[in-house]
Amino acid sequence: MSKKTFYITTPIYYPSGKLHIGHSYTTVAADAMARYKRLQGYDVMFLTGTDEHGQKIQRIAEETGVTPQEYVDNIVAGIEKLWSLMNISNDKFIRTTDEEHVAAVQKIFKTLYDKGDIYKSEYEGWYCTPCESFWTETQLKEGKCPDCERPVELTKEESYFFRLSKYQERLIKLLEENPEFIQPTSRRNEMLNNFLRPGLEDLCVSRTSFNWGIPVTFDDKHVVYVWIDALSNYITALGYLSDNDELYKKFWPADVHLVGKEIVRFHTIIWPAMLMALDLPLPKQIFGHGWLVLDGGKMSKSKGNVVDPVVLIEKYGLDAIRYFLLREVPFGADGVFSNEALISRINSDLANDLGNLVSRTVAMIKKYFDGVLPIDREGGEFDQELRSLVVNTKTKVEEHMDKLQFSSALAEIWKAVSRTNKYIDETMPWILAKEEEKRPRLAQVLYNLAESIRIISILIQPFMTETPIKIWDQLGIPENQTAWESSGEWGIYSQTKPVTSGQIIFPRIDMDAEMKKLEAITPTTEKAEDDKKQHDTRKNKKDEKANSENTEGIAIIGIEDFAKIELRVAKVLECEKVEKSDKLLKLKLKCGEEEKQVVSGIAEYYSPDSLIGKKLIFLANLKPAKLRGVESQGMILAATHGQSLVLLTVDQDIPDGARVS
Ligand code: MSP
Repeated sequence: MSKKTFYITTPIYYPSGKLHIGHSYTTVAADAMARYKRLQGYDVMFLTGTDEHGQKIQRIAEETGVTPQEYVDNIVAGIEKLWSLMNISNDKFIRTTDEEHVAAVQKIFKTLYDKGDIYKSEYEGWYCTPCESFWTETQLKEGKCPDCERPVELTKEESYFFRLSKYQERLIKLLEENPEFIQPTSRRNEMLNNFLRPGLEDLCVSRTSFNWGIPVTFDDKHVVYVWIDALSNYITALGYLSDNDELYKKFWPADVHLVGKEIVRFHTIIWPAMLMALDLPLPKQIFGHGWLVLDGGKMSKSKGNVVDPVVLIEKYGLDAIRYFLLREVPFGADGVFSNEALISRINSDLANDLGNLVSRTVAMIKKYFDGVLPIDREGGEFDQELRSLVVNTKTKVEEHMDKLQFSSALAEIWKAVSRTNKYIDETMPWILAKEEEKRPRLAQVLYNLAESIRIISILIQPFMTETPIKIWDQLGIPENQTAWESSGEWGIYSQTKPVTSGQIIFPRIDMDAEMKKLEAITPTTEKAEDDKKQHDTRKNKKDEKANSENTEGIAIIGIEDFAKIELRVAKVLECEKVEKSDKLLKLKLKCGEEEKQVVSGIAEYYSPDSLIGKKLIFLANLKPAKLRGVESQGMILAATHGQSLVLLTVDQDIPDGARVS
């Protein structure tokens, strides 16, 4: 019987400079998914590549004094090297300069033209070269590009257009009838409300003002412009319209296209419309993930505001970075990349929880049994609970992975890690080791530890590529005990060699010393703020549109009103009752570098002690006021319902001072 197939793609990257950690985010996520499916026995096609045409590349090449082809060859070599450094397991790497791609795009363009879905007309608009985007007069922001705020040029030229408007109704129906087509759901609603229902305009798909692009075969003044070229990669990489289209027949339609949220529109409107026009099946799902931002500002290579994945990998190791990227932020939401968050994850989850578990277990097997454990699969007190939690982890991981919820899948694995660590404290092997007659129990306990670790090491394989091998090596686990399916079974572990305590898998990092070093290589503040402004502007426009549809009778505010509110995560350092008041508590909060005092009417709901250490949501730019003579320098947020009041806090750990938006 032939294996089930799974086809996953990343976007193809612009080789207009070095890639930053934000780009690695999409690729690492796709890689985890591809590895997971392979472990489950699927025949996987994982595609990534580069999007190499366009005026911007042509200009950079001219400025650098090389041909566009020389320029992209050099950058693309660096990108391929990065993916290999990150152990990205892509099955194919497509370049839009590949001959096969060029020929297929030319055929696609001609087919659409022959069908009447592409026609010639004239385009007039404002063009932003760095963003390669046309804007209408009303879209400009103070006469400049609304995305990057750089000057734009008025451009009028003969162009070919794709009849996108013709597919509007079919696209609306597609999205309405297939809730899974765009994930997360919020992005589907955005597409329907902000783009599809207001109406689609035909799309300019050729240019005459530059020539670094795929020539239109029947009109040599024109090159194919951006999206028809770029989006087609998902089928041309499989040999569509080539001499050998076996892969196309085997893998198309794609199971999922992973894309950043800003290109969801192209993938869920233009791409399906193109496929409809070509009478081809549509991809099953487009997943629009959030951005990884730097302290609140979007990373952007064109502004030089980058975090270099190569540097980070050299410093902390590949698996720590891969783990952080997938664990820190729920896939779909925006997340903050901060040095502090990275180091605290490494120290707590990796060094403390997983690393210690492995090294303690190995050390005890060595010390008490000379490295070779007598196999005793019988159970004792505490064992059953440990076994069932660990064995059931596989199903939970699979449930989350099937929804691309990497962070939740990892959280499940870490529950097993914590439970196993707790088992050491419960069983206290070092006490058992003191009495000869307890040796059989000691063997049982150590067996259970080793078996839990075997299961954990299998489950982390989609996310980490080096650690499982180190664990197998240290515990003497042979390959035939590492099949994915066997992570749902207990009692497989049996050593083929004595355990060996190798290097510490995840060394602890001195946070203070490291933060100082890292600051030097991670530009944040000013540029990040600058980038954030842009990000906000873009977001504001969309939100305004969405807001105008609110009909609940609540005063509608613009995002600019919300932007005036400075909400931060703050940690409670101290808390006490305000003298002569039954209602008020005085709290000392730590908010990043600052400490603030807040008076809050929550004494009837919370005891002072219960709040210490909690991370709350703090309105930081409220005018100070005095309550019962005590100064309050802001406000903490709470939800109320009838007689109940609960304080707002954060869903997962994040450094205090983090911005809430
Ligand atoms: N060439 C187009 C895609 C064409 S696909 C047919 C493109 N390239 S890109 O290099 O600008 O971006 C590639 C991907 O990287 C996008 O999905 C984008 O969202 C993602 N990211 C770029 N910066 C990012 C972060 N800071 N965080 C998360 N993803 C980021 O768009």
